[in-house]
Amino acid sequence: MAPAGAPRSLSPHCTLILFFTHLLIFLSSNTAAQSIGNGSEIDIQALLSFKSGISSDPHGVLGSWKASTGLCRWPGVACGTSLPPRVVSLNLSSSHLSGELSPWIANLTYLEHIDLSDNMFIGVIPEKLGTLKRLQSLQLDQNSLVGAIPRSLGTSRSIRYLDLAENLLVGHIPDFHEMSALQILDMSSNDLSGSIPSSLGNVSSLMEILLHVNRLSGTIPETLSLIQNLTVLSLATNYVSGHLSAELCNISSLLYLGLDENNLTGQIPSCIGNTLQNLEWLFMSGNRFEGLIPSSLANASKLQQIDLGYNFLVGPVPSLGSVAGLRLLILESNLLEAEGWEFLVSLANCARLEKLEMSGNALNGSLPGSVGNLSTSLLRMDLGNNQIIGTIPVEIFNLRNLQLLAMDQNLLTGVIPSVIGNLDQLVVLNLSGNHFSGQIPPTIGNLSQLNKLSLDSNGLSGNIPASLENCTQLALLKLSFNSLQGPIPSELVNSTTLVDLDLSNNNLTGSIPLQIGALLQLLRLDISFNNLSGQVPFSLGRCVQLSSLRLRSNMLNGSIPQSFSGLMSIDQIDLSQNSFVGKIPELFVNMVFLEQLDLSMNFFEGPIPTGGIFQNHSAVILDGNAGLCASAATNLFQFPVCTTTPAVQSKRNGLLLVKVIPAIAIALVSFIFFMTTLLKRRKAQADPYYNETMKKVSYGDIVKATNWFSPVNKISSSRTGSIYIGRFEFDTDLVAIKLFHLEENGAHNSFLTECEVLRNTRHRNVVKAVTVLGYL
Ligand SMILES: *[C@@H]1O[C@H](CO)[C@@H](O)[C@H](O)[C@H]1NC(C)=O
Ligand SMILES: *[C@@H]1O[C@H](CO)[C@@H](O)[C@H](O)[C@H]1NC(C)=O
Ligand SMILES: *[C@@H]1O[C@H](CO)[C@@H](O)[C@H](O)[C@H]1NC(C)=O
Ligand SMILES: *[C@@H]1O[C@H](CO)[C@@H](O)[C@H](O)[C@H]1NC(C)=O
Ligand SMILES: *[C@@H]1O[C@H](CO)[C@@H](O)[C@H](O)[C@H]1NC(C)=O
Ligand SMILES: *[C@@H]1O[C@H](CO)[C@@H](O)[C@H](O)[C@H]1NC(C)=O
Ligand SMILES: *[C@@H]1O[C@H](CO)[C@@H](O)[C@H](O)[C@H]1NC(C)=O
Ligand SMILES: *[C@@H]1O[C@H](CO)[C@@H](O)[C@H](O)[C@H]1NC(C)=O
Ligand SMILES: *[C@@H]1O[C@H](CO)[C@@H](O)[C@H](O)[C@H]1NC(C)=O
Ligand SMILES: *[C@@H]1O[C@H](CO)[C@@H](O)[C@H](O)[C@H]1NC(C)=O
Ligand SMILES: *[C@@H]1O[C@H](CO)[C@@H](O)[C@H](O)[C@H]1NC(C)=O
Ligand SMILES: *[C@@H]1O[C@H](CO)[C@@H](O)[C@H](O)[C@H]1NC(C)=O
Repeated sequence: MAPAGAPRSLSPHCTLILFFTHLLIFLSSNTAAQSIGNGSEIDIQALLSFKSGISSDPHGVLGSWKASTGLCRWPGVACGTSLPPRVVSLNLSSSHLSGELSPWIANLTYLEHIDLSDNMFIGVIPEKLGTLKRLQSLQLDQNSLVGAIPRSLGTSRSIRYLDLAENLLVGHIPDFHEMSALQILDMSSNDLSGSIPSSLGNVSSLMEILLHVNRLSGTIPETLSLIQNLTVLSLATNYVSGHLSAELCNISSLLYLGLDENNLTGQIPSCIGNTLQNLEWLFMSGNRFEGLIPSSLANASKLQQIDLGYNFLVGPVPSLGSVAGLRLLILESNLLEAEGWEFLVSLANCARLEKLEMSGNALNGSLPGSVGNLSTSLLRMDLGNNQIIGTIPVEIFNLRNLQLLAMDQNLLTGVIPSVIGNLDQLVVLNLSGNHFSGQIPPTIGNLSQLNKLSLDSNGLSGNIPASLENCTQLALLKLSFNSLQGPIPSELVNSTTLVDLDLSNNNLTGSIPLQIGALLQLLRLDISFNNLSGQVPFSLGRCVQLSSLRLRSNMLNGSIPQSFSGLMSIDQIDLSQNSFVGKIPELFVNMVFLEQLDLSMNFFEGPIPTGGIFQNHSAVILDGNAGLCASAATNLFQFPVCTTTPAVQSKRNGLLLVKVIPAIAIALVSFIFFMTTLLKRRKAQADPYYNETMKKVSYGDIVKATNWFSPVNKISSSRTGSIYIGRFEFDTDLVAIKLFHLEENGAHNSFLTECEVLRNTRHRNVVKAVTVLGYL
């Protein structure tokens, strides 16, 4: 036997796998010499083995896990009262640990609770965990565990709480019918496939089943209706198909039913509101449900949130005034009709209503003044994309707390009333695509929280009100396709938060404000098809994030300012149909992301540059510039060959440019900023699955936020990726969403670099979001 002193002095170093074998020898011989099966020794051995599987412990949580100190005082370890003391709980949640889970953990036979959630564990779940006879809760959620769910877990008769959510688990859900104690089953946000086992229905102890965000298919087993105490059934964002059977109506204990983003068909069972008397949350959006919305919902008096959007539901919207606690009613993108707007009248009884989203339906007729009787707690009202006629009822301006008002793509007429200035909490105002006439009321400047203002595609006339300078949060201003006159107010440059400015297709005159360069956040500037004159201000070159610049069809003159060399993120430039003069500056050659350059119908002269974008014949339009000529070597554009080549000049410009690279870094920082603000906000509402913002940023959310990656939402595009701007359903703020074209050479690197930067921000959710984006 080894001398007692030597191994003991080694034990403090046993985290290193190198020393681990020595330790084992010591422990086993030692144990044999004392009392065989001393439980504490077995537990120490198992935990040290667990520790040896940890590859990184940046906060030194396991630093004091040493054989020489009392096991029960190790951080994260709790012992029971038995003698010798045995480990009953292992809790190392949120400890920043990475590494693999040692199978020796299954030697801790007295364990009742394991909580290793919110770490960075990789590898598989040890098969034998299911054999721990006393284990009541097993929380391995929010790690990066891979492989299948061990079958042995399904045989545990002691586990009550099983949480494997937010890992990378694959394969089928095992048979759980023997888990006679199981109350909460959470396997959400993994990569599980196959169908939902009907044997789940035999686990009568179940109270919560959370399987959302996986790749589960098949139908919803009817046996689930046998579970008497089931309160939560969350199957959202899977590929579940088939009809909903009337058995569903038998689960009268249900509080939360989440079936959104699946492939379900048929009608919503008409009994649903009459038997599910406890239902508070009903989410069925993003399926292929058809038929009527069951009027029985009016009897489900505890309902708080209803989301049936993105289906094929027809007929009238039922009157839900009897559902007094209703906070959220989302019925967007269906085929619903207003039928006299009775439902709206009845909703006035819902004193807690916060969100009413009915866009993309067949609501017609004129909006009744009773809209003003809705609760002042209303934060969002979206009636866009319907067939609403008439004027905006002034009563709507009673809804003082509105943060979002959207009535875009309707048939509304008349003026925008100046009482709109009363809605001083508005963050998003969207009235585009109607027949509004008259002036933009100057009271719009009262809306100091406004972030997104879209009044485009109407018949608005008069000047752009200077009072917009008081909308200091403005990120998007879209006034295109109207008949606006007069100058672009110089006050607009006070809105330094502007990201997207579209004033195109109006009758604007005067020059571009000299201080336009103050808009440092600007990603998109479109003032094409106006009557603007004068020179392009030098300061525009300071908008280093600019990705799209459209000045087409104005009367702009002068030469292209050298400051354009600062526009290093730009990918679209359209200066066509103006009166620009001078040489085409060499600086375009250095714009590495430039994909489209239209300089046609101007008075440019001299040699056409040859490098960069000018090597791509289809990306550059130069027609209608009589004075241009081509160098002898390359004549892609079919212009006459120049008589002299000005090589010296162009070299100098090239050199000047190399120093201006950080633009890209700035763009990236702003992207991070957007994501962080969004995610911080979501983190703040940490309410588990009940919260309507519970949905992670899924592919569907992103698709909707970007209007199906609509070109309208695209504000920038380069070879390696595109940036979209949009908002998530659950938030009023705009977010930038970067889509990486991973099949492109170099995109991978750029993606990985950005991920690396985000990782270094040490914000857990940001890293998660990037992972999601990676799948796009
Ligand atoms: C069991 O092992 C622990 C740790 O080595 C020791 O403190 C304790 O005295 C042992 N108990 C018995 C009953 O041998
Ligand atoms: C583990 O510890 C965390 C933080 O101390 C606590 O929130 C959590 O409830 C614990 N888990 C268990 C299973 O006791
Ligand atoms: C502990 O677990 C390991 C790995 O599963 C196993 O090889 C070993 O026999 C177990 N030891 C005891 C004492 O159960
Ligand atoms: C599940 O319960 C049904 C009756 O409710 C029974 O017929 C069936 O055998 C059970 N299945 C299992 C696997 O125990
Ligand atoms: C359902 O809950 C009730 C009340 O909490 C309880 O008495 C009953 O045993 C539970 N049923 C099952 C099958 O667990
Ligand atoms: C609902 O349960 C009752 C008994 O509680 C049963 O008689 C009925 O057939 C069930 N209905 C459906 C549709 O399963
Ligand atoms: C949805 O179901 C239809 C058949 O009903 C099938 O053709 C389609 O592929 C399914 N979609 C998905 C995403 O599973
Ligand atoms: C609501 O419940 C009442 C009483 O149970 C019933 O008479 C009525 O038909 C139900 N309404 C609907 C629309 O199902
Ligand atoms: C509204 O639509 C319905 C169904 O298409 C139609 O019958 C009705 O006449 C329309 N009402 C108005 C005012 O346009
Ligand atoms: C902006 O608001 C300030 C303070 O309320 C006011 O004095 C100013 O006139 C407003 N600007 C415009 C152009 O209306
Ligand atoms: C622009 O103004 C002119 C006259 O001022 C008018 O003839 C023309 O129709 C206007 N264009 C648009 C698009 O409103
Ligand atoms: C707008 O900017 C100018 C100077 O750039 C400043 O004098 C003025 O006070 C600003 N207005 C507001 C409302 O911030």
